[in-house]
Amino acid sequence: MENTGTIRLGDENFEFPMIVGTEGEKALDTRTLRAKSGCVTFDEGYGNTGSCLSDITFIDGEKGILRHRGYPIEQLAERSTFLETSYLAIYGELPTQEELEIFANGVQTHASVHTGMHHHFEGFPSNAHPMAILSSMLNSLGAYYPEMSSNNRAQDLTHFDETAALLISKVRTIAAMTYRQKQGLPFVFPDYKMRYAENFLHMMFSEPYHQYEDTSGASEALDLFLLLHADHEQNCSTSTVRMVASGGANLFASVSAGVCALWGPSHGGANMAVIKMLEEIHASGDDGSKFIQDAKEGKAKLMGFGHRVYKNYDPRAMILGKSSERVLEGLGIDDPLLDIAKHLEQAALEDEYFVQRKLYPNVDFYSGILLKAIGIPVEMFTVMFAIGRMPGWIANWKEIAENSKSRIHRPRQIYTGHTIRDYLKMDER
Ligand code: CMC
Repeated sequence: MENTGTIRLGDENFEFPMIVGTEGEKALDTRTLRAKSGCVTFDEGYGNTGSCLSDITFIDGEKGILRHRGYPIEQLAERSTFLETSYLAIYGELPTQEELEIFANGVQTHASVHTGMHHHFEGFPSNAHPMAILSSMLNSLGAYYPEMSSNNRAQDLTHFDETAALLISKVRTIAAMTYRQKQGLPFVFPDYKMRYAENFLHMMFSEPYHQYEDTSGASEALDLFLLLHADHEQNCSTSTVRMVASGGANLFASVSAGVCALWGPSHGGANMAVIKMLEEIHASGDDGSKFIQDAKEGKAKLMGFGHRVYKNYDPRAMILGKSSERVLEGLGIDDPLLDIAKHLEQAALEDEYFVQRKLYPNVDFYSGILLKAIGIPVEMFTVMFAIGRMPGWIANWKEIAENSKSRIHRPRQIYTGHTIRDYLKMDER
């Protein structure tokens, strides 16, 4: 294979090295293009831009493949837990029993938050969005650990293992506290004997004299949901985390920015939007057919469908679709939204508009139905995504922080505004 590529500009040829990834992905390394030719590349939305070299996650969007550190998502979903997959994403290998115990112990130890932070929750109005609260709280959290959030790379890295376990643990506690505060309910302290997802449900739903009991496999389903969201390559929020980290910012600040990026409806906010869409379709008496027509005419967007990278089934949607059916069956819930979702999916998969554009269900299409079945309020859906994505953000921050050659991320632009004007001529107006 050619190991260089040539760009021809006018009469001049410029040669650049090719980079080939371990899965055969090719990229032309144009880092010296501007210096050599005075020209930059233009790629709004970054659809053709490799922003980094990364060892964490591989996606083949054409084939619907997702692997973390080489392990297929289907195998991880079947055989591992959220914490094991988190460890894999962050440290590059599945943990041994001993490594897992140390990691899980670190997560357990850090479950509660400083009581000083309890008061921060009171400062938010009751209608504040949980993602706004989560982002602010994660950034504030860093203030309680100045030695871990120094913005001195070497120092922040010295504390990395503890910071990683702490964030994976406390993001869950903060999420549950956000819900309790908004409901006007007292906070529930973590139970150190409980597993990760079970402890979250306990902090959400236990009452002083009534401990939450998981009799229907809700915590197992939630663990799977979190695992499926653990990492997803250079998506909008992960790229944001890397962007913030590239300037030298600490892990707390970087993941707080990641939460903000995740919030939007084209990204993590889609899981809330899907349920709203399904509820509206249900309320209007439509079985989905009219909505599909509206989407084709550009009057609506089929939320939970389409993806920048997947031009095939998102493998996570496949697993979540089956899992939500199982959970609903186990709980004896007959949710009409599931029927509408299935009908929408079928109709879209057979429709020329969606087929031509290679639009398939993505991870958000079924996740809301699953979360709703286990009792998570819709407003918290994107927060649940953020809890799941935390290990991916941490792993990507680590990759940047450990690379002594990494440069600050600073794209160019093509200026299209006014050319030079004379301020003095303002008087003539
Ligand atoms: N419903 C109807 N038409 C769509 C949809 C959709 N959900 N998604 C894309 N299209 C159309 C789009 O209008 C365009 O049509 P045309 O070629 O006629 O102009 C074509 O498909 C290509 O779409 P695009 O907007 O260029 O695709 P993109 O890669 O820029 O956007 C996306 C990807 C995920 C933002 C988009 O598909 C979308 O908005 N989907 C709905 C929101 C959603 O489910 N987001 C979650 C993404 S997965 C989880 C995550 O990353 O957080």
